[in-house]
This record gives sequence, structure tokens and C-alpha cells, in this order.
Amino acid sequence: MAPEITTEHPPSCEDVASLDIRDKCRELILDNEKIRKLMKVFLENVERGLKKATHPTSIVKCFPTYVQDLPNGTEKGKFLALDLGGTNFRVLLIELSGEHFEMKSKIFAIPQHIMLGSGEQLFDHIAECLAIFVKEEQVADQKLPLGFTFSFPLSQTGLTVGYLERWTKGFNCSNVVGNDVVQMLNEAIDRRGDVQIEICAILNDTTGTLMSCAWKNHATRIGLIVGTGSNACYVEKQKNAEMWSDVDMGSGNVLINLEWGAFGDDGALDFVRTEYDEDIDRNSVNPSKQKCEKMISGMYMGELVRLALERFTKEGLLFGGKGSDMLFERGRFYTKYVSEIESDPPGVFNNLRDICEELALKHATEQDFINIRYICECISRRSAHLVSAGLATLLNKMDEKNVTIGIDGSVYRFHPHFHNLMMEKIKELVDPSIEFDLMLSEDGSGRGAALVAAVAARLQKEAIR
Ligand code: GLC
Repeated sequence: MAPEITTEHPPSCEDVASLDIRDKCRELILDNEKIRKLMKVFLENVERGLKKATHPTSIVKCFPTYVQDLPNGTEKGKFLALDLGGTNFRVLLIELSGEHFEMKSKIFAIPQHIMLGSGEQLFDHIAECLAIFVKEEQVADQKLPLGFTFSFPLSQTGLTVGYLERWTKGFNCSNVVGNDVVQMLNEAIDRRGDVQIEICAILNDTTGTLMSCAWKNHATRIGLIVGTGSNACYVEKQKNAEMWSDVDMGSGNVLINLEWGAFGDDGALDFVRTEYDEDIDRNSVNPSKQKCEKMISGMYMGELVRLALERFTKEGLLFGGKGSDMLFERGRFYTKYVSEIESDPPGVFNNLRDICEELALKHATEQDFINIRYICECISRRSAHLVSAGLATLLNKMDEKNVTIGIDGSVYRFHPHFHNLMMEKIKELVDPSIEFDLMLSEDGSGRGAALVAAVAARLQKEAIR
């Protein structure tokens, strides 16, 4: 018998929040009836994505990833990795030897004008950062295998071919959608002529997360990101993955990148979306796209809270009706505030007091603190519950009795109750015969990219032998 999973019930200041605030926040609460309805529609979406006939018009894309195998611990060597698509862009040098793992990395900024510039500029910038790094690390003369974690929706036809389906999370570079990003990176590297590399694999951050956990824990079957964006991948039977076009995979399994951030783009989430969600969507660089992601992820969570605070202040329910310019400024209430506010023990408002001072809201009262914390709780719980609904749907579908879910991303990592909220909710939603565990991934996007590259190199060698 596996040990009973114990979960601490996350604290809430619901009982002490003002009645009118509680009343207005009701629409942010997803009860289990709504959640089960969401799970049913989500499952239909996943099935549409997997089937050839419905894939082209499906919203949840379920892209096969062409990652052939999970690591077995024998992977060895030096690898480069690129990680694009979270808060930072990173270049990494990783050395694997049996159980041992060494890593050096450097973070580079991707300025806003590049995020919204041309594709050529973006890939030239990436190639330049790579060149700087390999020179600094004195490996410029070696032709190292590289794994490229590119965390956007890719339609793949092989491990080193990925056509961008759409940009997400604030990126919007021209002339990339529809193109193979591996080729674009290779061309940028060739334009420079001062680095040699071999791109062995392109992968999603969810895949990297799954791989990095699977390296240590062989029951890992799902990879999840709750960070700047949100998405998951899972191990599906090859016979169900009709878009998989390659030869028979030894394992009989295919790793599917769900791209669940797009769930709801056809209106499926409208019965739970609020005016704050609509506002976020309208003012984003990708209106009407990634509607589920916009309700979950770190890029939007702080702004959702701010929009509610702004509305309640203007209605006279907070701060005696008197806000501040900063409170009314788009993007000024950071997602990290939500984690900080909920990190204070119940009834203590040290972090919240500092945040209010920072936002020129010195006149906030104790009741305002309680109400603000309650609003944060509603928004972060809604996010955790949506993620749980997605995971529970997968767990119920997968026909495995013991599954570890590898997780990464700033929201999961830094929100003090996210893990417990998920444990609690998933337990309510899954078939009681299923055992699951949530495991924090150690740098899935970096280490995972090296592992995918390493597994590809190992399989290549085995094939030659
Ligand atoms: C967005 C991307 C997806 C990625 C996720 C988490 O949803 O489209 O590919 O996995 O963000 O970074």
C-alpha cells in the first residue's frame, strides 16, 4: 500500500472578508459541478486533438512531440541547451555522466522590441547569445549537440522539425508562424559563421519538465508548467495518437504536447469567464487566443487581481473609494505580490502592508487588507482548480494506477499554497483507485533539453550498433 497522501488545507480569510466583496467574488469560485462540466468538455477537446479527422479544427492541439524514449540514466556527455519562452532566455552547458549532473548557464534579456520585432532579428539575437556563451565557456571549437526548449505551440514532423503554429505569452515576431524554427535558428547560426552546433532536438518546456523528473522518478507520465504560461504534456498510447506519423515506437507510447492554454478559444469557457478575463484578453497581444492560459498563468494573475481591485475601489468597496495612480496602472500589480500576500500567516499582513505602501495606498485599513487577500485567494484558487481539472481529466483517461506529475513554473514554485490546493482538488476529482504525486522539477527547461538531446544521441548510437 502506498502511504496516504496528506494535504494541509490552505488557509482562507473568506469568513472575515466583507460581505459585498464576498458577493462580488462569487463568480471567481469554481465549484465541483462547474469543474466536472469543464472536465467533460476538456476531455472531448483532447480527443478531437488526437484524431486525424478532427485535429485540423481542434482547439486543444495535442501535438505529438517525437520524443522517442524517457531517459534511462545511462546518458552521458556534454550538451548545450537553449531555453526560450519563459521569463528569461537562457543558454546552458550541461555535462551528464551517470547519476551526475553539472550545469553552467547564462541568462540573457530578450528586449520588448525583439519580442515584437521580426523573426530574423529574434533568431539573430539568440545566435549571438549562444556565440557569446560558447566562447566564454571555451567550447566554441567543439561541435556539441544542442537541445532547444522552445515553449510555444509547434507542429512537429520529427524531433528536429517544428513549425510554429502561433505565438503565445507576449511574443509576436513577424514571419515565424508557419516556419520551421529549427531551420530559422540554423540559418541565423550560419549567418554568423563563428559557432558550430548540432541541433538534436526541439522540445516544449512541458516535455523538458517531464523528462527531467522521469530521469529520477520512473513513474513520471505528465509534465506541467504553471509559470508565465500554462500547458501540459502526457504519455499517450500510440494507437490513440492518430497524428503520430512515424514508424512504430518501441514503447508503444507517444508523448503529447496538449497546448491546453488554448482551451476555451471557441467559447467553451465562457460560462466561467468574468469581465476581468475579458479585459485581460482584449488588452493582450493575442486577443481571443489562449483563453484558458489567461485564467491560469503568471503572466496574467497579478493583472486579474488588479482589475478586481480597481473595480471594487471605484465602486467604493475598497480604500474608502480612493485608489492611486499605480493601482490604476495596467500591469503594475505583479503576480509575485499574490504569492507574497498569501505567504503571510492568516491574520498577518506584513507583505501586504509593504505592497500597499509601494502602490501609494497608505490609507489601506485592516479590513482592506483582509479583502485584498481574499481577492488574491479567489484568483489563485481558480487557477489551481483549473489546472487540477485538466490533470484529473488526464489521470482518469490514462489508465495507469500510479502516476507522478513533474511540475515547473514560477506560480507553482512560489505560490505558497498552490501545491496543496492542487493535491486537495485533484484527489476530489480523480477515480479513487488512482494514486498520483506532484513533483517539483529541477530546471526542466534546461536539464530536460539536455536529456532529450542525450536520449536522441543514445538512440542514434544504439541504432548504428
Ligand atoms: C504557452 C505555450 C506552451 C508552453 C506554455 C508554458 O502556453 O504555448 O507551448 O508550454 O506557455 O510555458
